Amino acid sequence: MIERFRFGTPIETCAVVEQLPVTEGMLPFFEISSKNGITEFVYKLADKDIVYGLGEQVRGINKRGWCYVSSNSDNPHHQEDTRSLYGSHNFMIVSGRELFGVFFDYAGKVTFDVGYTNRDILCIMPEDLNLDVYVITGESEKDIVKQFRKLIGRSYIAPKWAFGYGQSRWGYKDAKDIRQVAEEYRKRNIPLDSIYMDIDYMERYKDFTIDEEAFPEFEDFCAEMKAQGIHLVPIIDAGVKIEEGYDVYEEGVKNDYFCKDAKGKDFVGAVWPGRVHFPDFLKSETRNWFGQKYKFLLDKGIDGFWNDMNEPAIFYTEERLASVMERISELSKENLDVNSYFEFTGLVAGIGNNVGDYETFFHDMEGKKVPHSKVHNLYGYNMTKAAGEAFEMLSPDKRILMFSRSSYIGAHRYGGIWQGDNKSWWSHLLMNLQMMPSLNMAGFLYTGADVGGFGSDVTEDLMLRWLQLAVFTPLMRNHSCRGTREQELYRFDNCDDCKKMIEIRYGLVPYLYSEYMKAVLSDEMMFRPLSFDFPTDADARGVEDQLLLGNELMIAPVYTPNATGRYVYLPEEMMCVRMRSLDDYETNTLAAGHHFVKAELNELVFFIRNGKAIPVGKTAMNTKKLDAATLMLLGFEGAEYDLYEDDGYTKKYDRSARVREIRR
Ligand code: GLC
Repeated sequence: MIERFRFGTPIETCAVVEQLPVTEGMLPFFEISSKNGITEFVYKLADKDIVYGLGEQVRGINKRGWCYVSSNSDNPHHQEDTRSLYGSHNFMIVSGRELFGVFFDYAGKVTFDVGYTNRDILCIMPEDLNLDVYVITGESEKDIVKQFRKLIGRSYIAPKWAFGYGQSRWGYKDAKDIRQVAEEYRKRNIPLDSIYMDIDYMERYKDFTIDEEAFPEFEDFCAEMKAQGIHLVPIIDAGVKIEEGYDVYEEGVKNDYFCKDAKGKDFVGAVWPGRVHFPDFLKSETRNWFGQKYKFLLDKGIDGFWNDMNEPAIFYTEERLASVMERISELSKENLDVNSYFEFTGLVAGIGNNVGDYETFFHDMEGKKVPHSKVHNLYGYNMTKAAGEAFEMLSPDKRILMFSRSSYIGAHRYGGIWQGDNKSWWSHLLMNLQMMPSLNMAGFLYTGADVGGFGSDVTEDLMLRWLQLAVFTPLMRNHSCRGTREQELYRFDNCDDCKKMIEIRYGLVPYLYSEYMKAVLSDEMMFRPLSFDFPTDADARGVEDQLLLGNELMIAPVYTPNATGRYVYLPEEMMCVRMRSLDDYETNTLAAGHHFVKAELNELVFFIRNGKAIPVGKTAMNTKKLDAATLMLLGFEGAEYDLYEDDGYTKKYDRSARVREIRR
């Protein structure tokens, strides 16, 4: 059962698709009080209660013991003490003494103190009291998620080619670099479905332009890549460069499509191109206009995009820069001591992504001027919505790949997300795993992290271990930052082992795609904590580094350096598969309980659930070449599998789909 409680006059977020009547009366589970003008929703946690959810956030599957803040932030250096990441997903489930889900549908900043100040208190603090709170009760965590997902509407469906392997790097300057990447993969027969185009494909970082010198005859180049089975996926940034003669800028100014400053002038911030205006994506006219701009690239043969810098990231605003410069010039005349030195460094560090700037620009929501701070978490969502709505018109039949960095619940209907700028750290490999179920709870099924890590220098063992997780995530993209160690797989001595992981991925695509589609179409989670399926198993409830995948698998990747295996908990008897390649693996059945499972660096280890089997096919150079006739069942004797199949490219999935029973 879902009940909706209304406080004050909320700003419409469009997170939900079902308009429930407002329940009059007391909000269950929570006590509401007010401290220093801040309203607190307080729930008393029992000793063993687990709190799941919050989507894209740091720390574990159980969120208890930290304070999280929903305030979309560009933070490429995030660690375990970070409070805000790129997306805000205010849905959580409390499980233990009582079981319920709760969604704080609020466009501004919300603080979730999940047993941080006091281990036994869950305290939720929106910035003001204008919001809808949805309370969901049900017989299990899975049931609550399913009800919630129905409330927020069906998740975006990615094209099947987006389940292939993708290579990306901020640093490919021109067509020659990209051809080279394709060539190196082809030479080694490593499967590849996509190459990503970062900001350097644009002319002076201007959205919807192509640097003609770096990419002459772009349309032909797209076709050339397509002929090799490779989709080019360009980036689109939120900020629009201020430049006379640039059509997107000029149209935006002329038609009032940009966010305004306090004086009503187009607000100026700065990102990659220097000074930009930010499209006011909360205005439907702006969304229509910006969305139609993707046509420029669609017409050239592009069929996938990633939306970036849409928290929005702001390097500086003119006002802040000026005031910081002034103070720095004063300080520079001083003998910097303990106080003035830190004031100085603090000023410099505070120029970019300063939340204070969110007060200085405004949106036009149905004629009402709303400060950005009140709707900050909706910005990236509405950029993705702009694209998604336009794709419906521009490409009514064909699925277009879209994933975004910033998001709010609701954006899951228009695109996927990647987990933002991470690092080549073992801890971020674990974080990648731990975020999968909470993102699924919030409706984001097409997701994954930058494989190998975006910032810092990757090592070849980290890359290989990361691939062993990414083999299972819908988005499998190797992406890295310029200036870091190059991490295309052919850069490493263990390239052959990496290649085998990619081949295994292609062998698993039919299964992964099938489970993804089943999860989308039935509002379920593709990745789940063990406790969701084994709620009464105390050991399963404590597992933080294994996940159930679909209905058949359990994954338990290695996420520490120099390991030759790891401890795994089996809530039931399972088949352990140890795979070095698609034709070189062994299986053995393990009893329920705790095991140390060996996993050498080149071995992918995963588990098939009791009595189940999965289809595994032969690899191919890209997803289009996968041959469904090669599927064999791997798993328990006598098990069958219902394979969901559709053409993978059109939106007619409900008409072209069929379920095929795979037998041994
Ligand atoms: C942002 C993105 C990253 C991209 C970079 C340059 O940091 O998150 O993926 O490579 O910008 O465009």
